[in-house]
Amino acid sequence: MATPASARTKIACYIKREKMVKICCIGAGYVGGPTMAVIALKCPSIEVVVVDISIARIAAWNSEQLPIYEPGLEDVVKQCRGRNLFFSTEVEKHISEADIIFVSVNTPTKTQGLGAGKAANLTYWESAARMIADVSKSDKIVVEKSTVPVKTAEAIEKILNHNSNGINFQILSNPEFLAEGTAIQDLFKPDRVLIGGRETPEGQKAIKALRDIYATWVPEDRIIATNLWSAELSKLAANAILAQRISSINAMSALCEATGADVTEVAYAVSKDSRIGPKFLNASVGFGGSCFQKDILNLVYICECNGLPEVANYWKQVIKINDYQKTRFVNRVVASMFNTVSGKKIAILGFAFKKDTGDTRETPAIDVCKGLLGDKANISIYDPQVTEEQIQRDLSMNKFDWDHPIHLQPMSPTAVKEVTVTWDAYQATNGAHGICILTEWDEFKALDYQKIYDNMQKPAFIYDGRNIMDVEKLRKIGFIVYSIGKPLDAWLKDMPAVA
Ligand code: NAD
Ligand code: UGA
Repeated sequence: MATPASARTKIACYIKREKMVKICCIGAGYVGGPTMAVIALKCPSIEVVVVDISIARIAAWNSEQLPIYEPGLEDVVKQCRGRNLFFSTEVEKHISEADIIFVSVNTPTKTQGLGAGKAANLTYWESAARMIADVSKSDKIVVEKSTVPVKTAEAIEKILNHNSNGINFQILSNPEFLAEGTAIQDLFKPDRVLIGGRETPEGQKAIKALRDIYATWVPEDRIIATNLWSAELSKLAANAILAQRISSINAMSALCEATGADVTEVAYAVSKDSRIGPKFLNASVGFGGSCFQKDILNLVYICECNGLPEVANYWKQVIKINDYQKTRFVNRVVASMFNTVSGKKIAILGFAFKKDTGDTRETPAIDVCKGLLGDKANISIYDPQVTEEQIQRDLSMNKFDWDHPIHLQPMSPTAVKEVTVTWDAYQATNGAHGICILTEWDEFKALDYQKIYDNMQKPAFIYDGRNIMDVEKLRKIGFIVYSIGKPLDAWLKDMPAVA
């Protein structure tokens, strides 16, 4: 679909030139890549260049094997790459030529110094801002796409304006709400697009320029304009509230196991209240992903800095329940196998933090595997999208180290020798004492569990951390089954696990 002439004129009007609008996005990751590909697809008259300091990542974006697995992404990239979508390592050149710059770099949790373990590390953001200030020769709109602490725009404004040489920079906050696995659909049909800007005439003009780009394919009533701080905080609030729903149902799952209630039935009954609704009420082994924990920790830090310890403690509890849920799962496995998994083979089906992605950042599988390894298990892992190298890297990396550009991560982590990675679920489960299902990949539902059972040690256990299995069918085959928040097998009742 072409950018309507009216939108083109309006965008060009902001930048006072009748030429092709140029967008540069700094950061070619899970957000920068897909969002810019969709803008390029929907607005063929805009040139979009995605730049990154990682040579390998840019090379992958320019190859047949994209650096991230995301349904529908390849098709979008193929339609516009080389036409009006480009991936480049020439960061300075494309920043200097752009009218609008999106900054979509990582904002990891700090591991050292003030706020370590909570505050967002804005190193990458700051270096991007300094680079923009250094190389800009014309006015620019700078868009915060990364998730940042509230008030970051103020800091960025200071960096840009103190080094501006008379150039006008307008900062906008345009947080991204896509979820991995459904990113392309989320970008095609977002629930909302949020744009925060200064309440000055220049600020409002910049909001309008960005609004006009999105309006090419997003209905006007879904594009919300707010002040900068509301936009920045809304992103943290949305992630915190989504994660809170998962921790709420996971807390209930523990009570369900203790009382004989079934968490799926409870969630369904609760969801029928139209004020609550059905989404994000699936009990699980715990939420993962690059953002929920990071963003809540960031929120906690901001509350503490603003003298609000009660509010900080409230949100901390969402993470504590998530950690409790992962520990509880490991304890169930170990307790039910006569209190030890030492030397036993445990098959792990699924390592990604959710289905339809190869992303393993903060996946609950890391904590579950580390817990089982701590009890000296031998682990055999199968995930349809995650490589052995990635799994070994995840199991040997320090907490929070993953959220740095690839070239700053440990290069060759020592492989954990008790871990093997297979490309086949049957091989992973062959001779195993137990199976843990940690990602809800559809293909796990279609496996031949009779065949799997026949090739396992007995008694054979299945621990379903995603509640995707037909428990009764598995019990008929002979498995001892644990399913999060479901009435317990007699076997498990006799072996209580204390988290
Ligand atoms: P990512 O790690 O996949 O990508 C970030 C990229 O930025 C990396 O490739 C890195 O090399 C690059 N980079 C860092 N500093 C740079 C610099 N100075 N110049 C050029 N490139 C630089 O991260 P992501 O998942 O895309 O997340 C980016 C931001 O978006 C984070 O703030 C995150 O919280 C937020 N976010 C992520 C998601 C998601 O689903 N992953 C969704 C919404 C928001
Ligand atoms: C989440 C938000 O949904 C996005 O809106 C946001 O943009 C993004 O974080 C971000 O800021 O990074 P994402 O982490 O990609 O997206 O995926 P989700 O679908 O939210 O799942 C997060 C985790 O929660 C996964 O581990 C998933 O398995 C788990 N989950 C989700 C549950 O355990 N139960 C549920 O009911 C839903």
